[in-house]
Amino acid sequence: MSEKNWTDTERFDSKAAEWDANAVRAALADAVARAIIAHMPVAKPANALEFGCGTGLVTTRIAPHCARLTAVDSSREMLRMLAEKIAASSIANVTPLHLDFSRPEEAAGLERDYDFVCSSMTLHHIPDTASFLCELIGHISPGGTLAIADLDAEDGLFHDDATEKVHHGFDRAALQTLLESAGFAGVSFMTAHVIEKKNREGNLKSYPVFLVTALKPKA
Ligand SMILES: C[S@@+](CC[C@H](N)C(=O)[O-])C[C@H]1O[C@@H](n2cnc3c(N)ncnc32)[C@H](O)[C@@H]1O
Repeated sequence: MSEKNWTDTERFDSKAAEWDANAVRAALADAVARAIIAHMPVAKPANALEFGCGTGLVTTRIAPHCARLTAVDSSREMLRMLAEKIAASSIANVTPLHLDFSRPEEAAGLERDYDFVCSSMTLHHIPDTASFLCELIGHISPGGTLAIADLDAEDGLFHDDATEKVHHGFDRAALQTLLESAGFAGVSFMTAHVIEKKNREGNLKSYPVFLVTALKPKA
């Protein structure tokens, strides 16, 4: 498995300018952001992290609910679109950060005291889910919350390009096992949204998107 092909920055760089024009994507981001906000701790996160922020469709919606939000992505063009939005809307509490989570040596430099970590539609792009979750928990403070949205196990036809290396969604029970093996507790799933779209074979299909929340235990 080549991790370079999984983290296809060129693919996302080339899509960045048109990313927000897709109405299905915007509706998904809206629903996921609402679900993430609903699952935030009572106290406003002081130091939040979003991985795979893209152009910031979710980022800009959750930013007002965080004191500070670091928005990470491996595509510089996606981050450039986010930076433009931040500048245009004078959003002061979001810091875009270029980082490839499939490269442990890059992730190692991240802060280790995020009290809230979230993401939408990115986990399926990261090759080794188990290793990634083990890395991620090391960057969360004890008692911190994780909230990840992604596709439920799908038919393998969700992505238009058959050559794109992705996980075909996640089986909830299997992902729960991976989260618990990484050290997370209180794992809970809900359905955040259902994407209705024509799949790669041209058939209109429903693709549910879960939000899984979990805690890093205090001790
Ligand atoms: C499907 S997009 C979702 C973007 C955004 N969350 C949204 O909802 O519009 C996946 C994002 O994850 C980023 N990504 C993929 N692999 C990554 C990795 N290994 N490390 C960091 N970001 C990654 C891509 O560049 C892309 O912006």
